[in-house]
Amino acid sequence: MSHRGCRETNVDHRVRAELPSLGDHPIRRLRSALLEQLRVPLELSTNDVLQAGGEVTTEVLCPDGAALHEAEVLNDAPARHAVDIGQDQRRLQSVLVPGSPSGWHLSRCANRCYGSAVKLCVIGTGYVGLVSGTCFAATGQRVICVDKDASKIKRLRRYEIPIYEPGIEDLVEENVKAGRLTFSTDLASAVRDVDLAFIAVGTPPTLDGEADLSAVFGVAQELVKHATHDLAIVLKSTVPVGTNAQVQRLIADSEHDVQVVSNPEFLKEGAAINDFMYPDRIVIGVRPGHDRARRLMDRVYHPLNLSSTKIVWMNPESAEVTKYAANTMLAMRISFMNELAVLCEEVGADVQSVRHGVGSDPRIGPQFLHAGPGYGGSCFPKDVKALVATARRHGIELELADATNRVNVRHRSFVVRKLKRHFDNDLAGKRIAIWGLAFKPGTDDVRESPSITTIDFLINEGCEIVAHDPEAMENIREIFGDKVGLVDEAYDALKGADALVLLTEWREYQYPEFDRIKELMRTPVILDGRNIWVTYRLPEQGFEYEGVGIQIATS
Ligand SMILES: NC(=O)c1ccc[n+]([C@@H]2O[C@H](COP(=O)([O-])OP(=O)(O)OC[C@H]3O[C@@H](n4cnc5c(N)ncnc54)[C@H](O)[C@@H]3O)[C@@H](O)[C@H]2O)c1
Repeated sequence: MSHRGCRETNVDHRVRAELPSLGDHPIRRLRSALLEQLRVPLELSTNDVLQAGGEVTTEVLCPDGAALHEAEVLNDAPARHAVDIGQDQRRLQSVLVPGSPSGWHLSRCANRCYGSAVKLCVIGTGYVGLVSGTCFAATGQRVICVDKDASKIKRLRRYEIPIYEPGIEDLVEENVKAGRLTFSTDLASAVRDVDLAFIAVGTPPTLDGEADLSAVFGVAQELVKHATHDLAIVLKSTVPVGTNAQVQRLIADSEHDVQVVSNPEFLKEGAAINDFMYPDRIVIGVRPGHDRARRLMDRVYHPLNLSSTKIVWMNPESAEVTKYAANTMLAMRISFMNELAVLCEEVGADVQSVRHGVGSDPRIGPQFLHAGPGYGGSCFPKDVKALVATARRHGIELELADATNRVNVRHRSFVVRKLKRHFDNDLAGKRIAIWGLAFKPGTDDVRESPSITTIDFLINEGCEIVAHDPEAMENIREIFGDKVGLVDEAYDALKGADALVLLTEWREYQYPEFDRIKELMRTPVILDGRNIWVTYRLPEQGFEYEGVGIQIATS
C-alpha cells in the first residue's frame, strides 16, 4: 500500500500555498539552486518532483508561512552545496546534494540543528509504537522498535506489517533501508544504546474498568535494570493520572538518573502517519528539574515542531488527564448525538439536519457529531471507563463520563432492535449481510467495534451472518471463527440476504450498485448504520431503508 498519497497532498498544498508569499527569503536561493542543478521547477510540487524521476519522502515544511526552514536533497552523489536559509542557528542550514535526477530525495534535516540524531527505543510495536518509531526515524532519529512478540518482529524485519495502516509499509522499508530503523525483541540491548525509551505497550481495561498497567510497570523496571547510563523514560501508552509518579517511584533505586516523562499519543488509526507527522499538538509532561529529559524531548520532537507552537509543556499529571479528557469529550459528543438520534426518530426531526445546525456554531464545530452504531476502537471505550474508575478511586463521580459509556453500551443494540421491529420480532433463520467490521474506515482494528456486539446479538437471535470488510475480516475470524461467513467480494454477502446492515463507512461502500444489491437480496431491506445512503431515495428504488435518526426523503 503506497503512502505517497498523503505526503503528496501535503507537499502540494503547503508548497503551492506558501511559496509565493516568501518574497526574497533565502529559501529562494535553495529553490534557485535546485532549479539550476536538478532542473526541478520552481514550485517544487510533488508532481514536478515525481516527473523529474525523484521521490518525495517528506514535505518541505513551511509551517508558519515564513520560511521553508529545513530542506535537504540527498542522494549518492559526492558533491555537496550548502545553502544558508536564515539567521536562526537552529534552523540555519539546508544542504543541497545534487546528483542523478532519479536518485534524489527531499527530506527534513532538522537534526542538523543539534548536530546529531537522537537515539531512542520504542517498547511495544503495535499501532502506536510502530507508527511513532517509524515516524521518528523518518525525521532522522535512530530508532529501535522492540516487542516481546518475536513473530511480529520477524515479520517486520521482512517489511511485513502486522497492522493495516495506510502508508506505514513504505515508510518502514524506507527507514530500515536508510539504517535509521531496526526491530528487536531484545530490550536489554536496545536500552544500552539510547537516550530516550518510549513505552507504547497496551493498557487494556481490567474488569472494574481501570487500565491494566502491568505491562507499563514491567517494561519500566526492565529498562532501568538494563540501563547503563542516565535515561529518560517516556510514557506514550495511555495511562491514568498518577502513573508517571508511580513509575518514578518504582525505579527510584536505579543507580542512574532516570527521568520519567508523560507524552500521550493522539494519533488516529487510518490517518496515523499524517497525525504523527503533522500533529495538532504534542503534549509533554515533565517534572520541574527534569531538564535533561525536557531537552531530549525538545530535540526529538524538533522536526515536528518547527513552528515552535506544537509542544504544550505541562506537568505529568496534567498530561495524563489531558489524554483521557480529550477522548472522553469526543466520545461524549458521539453518545449525545446517538441519544438525540433516538429522539429525532420519535418526533420527526432529522439528526443530520440537527448536526449541521448545531455544528455550524464555531463554538461547537462539526466534528464527532455523527450518529451511528456507537463508538468503538481500542481507545474511546476503555479510556472513558478508565477515567471514571480513576476518578472514583479519588472519591469523585464523573457523571457525564459515566453516562457517555452507559449510553454507548445501550446504543449498541440499536441494529438488532430495528431489525426485530422490522421482522415482527422474529429474526430466527434470517440471513443478515453486514458491510463493514472495523470500528472505523482505514483500519483493520476491530477492538470494541460495534460489529462485534451486533454480530453477537444477531447470532443469539438465531440469524445467519455473512460479512465483508476490506481489511478487518481476519481479525473478526479470530473472534468468531466459522460462526460468521466472510466473503472477499462485498456483493457476495448479499446473496439471498434478508437485510443488509452497513456498519463501517468504508469508501468502497459509498456508491454501491443498488440495482445489483436488490437483485441479489431475498428482501431489499437496508439498515444504514452510518447514514451514508440517505440521499439515494432508496424507498423509491423499492428498498425498505432505515438509518440512524434520519427522516427519509420521498418525492
Ligand atoms: N491504537 C490507537 O489508536 C492509540 C492511540 C493513542 C494512544 N493509544 C494507546 O497506546 C497504547 C498502545 O496501544 P496500541 O493500540 O499500539 O496497542 P497494541 O496492542 O497494538 O500494541 C501493543 C504492543 O506492545 C507489545 N508488548 C506488550 N507488552 C510488552 C512488553 N513487556 N515488552 C515488549 N512489548 C510488549 C505487544 O506485543 C504489542 O505488540 C495503549 O495505551 C493505547 O491506549 C492507542
